Amino acid sequence: MALWGGRFKQDSDVRFKHFNDSLKFDYKMALEDIEGSIAWANAIASVGVITDEELASLKKALEELYEEHKDNLEKIALCDDEDIHSYIERRLIEKVGVLGKKLHTGRSRNDQVALDLKLWCRHALESVLLSITNLQKQLLKVAKENQGQIFPGYTHLQRAQPITFSHYVLAYMQMFERDYRRFNNALSLMSTCPLGSAALAGTAYKIDRDKLAKELQFERATYNSLDAVSDRDHVIEILSCASISMVHLSRLAEDLIIYNSGEANFVELSDKVTSGSSLMPQKKNPDALELIRGKCGRVIGSLNAILMTTKALPLAYDKDLQEDKEGLFNALDTYHDCLDMMALVFEDIKINKENVLNAALGGYSNATELADYLVSKKIPFREAHEIVGSTVLYAIEQEKRLEELSLDEFKKFHAVFDESVYTCLDLNVALSKRDVLGGCALNQTKLEIERFENLLSSR
Ligand code: ARG
Repeated sequence: MALWGGRFKQDSDVRFKHFNDSLKFDYKMALEDIEGSIAWANAIASVGVITDEELASLKKALEELYEEHKDNLEKIALCDDEDIHSYIERRLIEKVGVLGKKLHTGRSRNDQVALDLKLWCRHALESVLLSITNLQKQLLKVAKENQGQIFPGYTHLQRAQPITFSHYVLAYMQMFERDYRRFNNALSLMSTCPLGSAALAGTAYKIDRDKLAKELQFERATYNSLDAVSDRDHVIEILSCASISMVHLSRLAEDLIIYNSGEANFVELSDKVTSGSSLMPQKKNPDALELIRGKCGRVIGSLNAILMTTKALPLAYDKDLQEDKEGLFNALDTYHDCLDMMALVFEDIKINKENVLNAALGGYSNATELADYLVSKKIPFREAHEIVGSTVLYAIEQEKRLEELSLDEFKKFHAVFDESVYTCLDLNVALSKRDVLGGCALNQTKLEIERFENLLSSR
């Protein structure tokens, strides 16, 4: 049964009905629709539209519906109602009869859907925040276990300077921390309640909208009814936050795919998150990471879709806005899965310590130390850079590491070289020099790990 039959002489074409109906995806907001309906029942009772007894029976029926649906939303999708609002209303009327028909007084599906979606977003983000924290806890565990593990740091995918694996992992901790805060900001920005805006002009009943907003745990009511029913900024913003975070996940995935390759062999992924080839028996593919990298496209695609849908959309509500949900639902599910999958990857990741150390020792990643050494001997940096460049070229030709050159060989490039040059080339010495806020020295890493431990334990 449609909610709007009166004005029509003909039934909808089934093809139109199929095209128009949203129950097949908006059933996911069933609990939010019930929650909003209970609050609306209170609101219309407060202005005398229904009596206290009527309110009690409406609430009882809505609470029953909540219980009935809370563990199996999917079966709603099989019904023939136009959308979740029609479905809940029909089920309410089945339970309480004609009284159920009073609930929609002063309310429109336009403010109703705007509310339901905000409530849904809030619930979804609460669980996203938990998953980010869970991933951070896994990362932190690995960072803690690998504080002394020297690791080659890269720029341009060329070995650049030695760092530690811990410092590397902590870089991603920063990104996920910003993601966490970004979602939290989005949550607080969307904390305005659209209910009571009705179709577009505001409800005709003298409802205390701020009280209603508080009841639904919003900071306040929205200030403009036209904006309230047509605003989908929160959908755009949540998809932006998810897209940025997916970009972070994809970078981490890509790094690990490279580190896990036969060529690098820095890390080994557990059997739990890899798969084999149907043809080549030797293979163990990093599917979990490749899928995380690949799914990034889908989430960013949903962001683009909602931006395009809302671009140039005239005020106030237009049916175009029904397109806000599928992309959002799918993108958040996807993002959520990716966070959980990355946490699983880190649960059993193995660092191949020897290979990693050898890679850090090779590639002349201590060349900058040598330049700094010459600077300490009063040679201007530009000149030192030039001298070390030639020394490296020589070492490459000799197939030696810098620390394998003899003092005589060093002296060919400048007379100031003495025995102390070997100390500066030691990677641990190079690390310990970066004892500056944000640097890769062990002291700094330790502080950073402590800071995160405190932060995460307060969540
Ligand atoms: N299914 C609709 C949506 O998701 C609900 C709002 C319908 N409003 C209307 N005026 N037809 O946007």
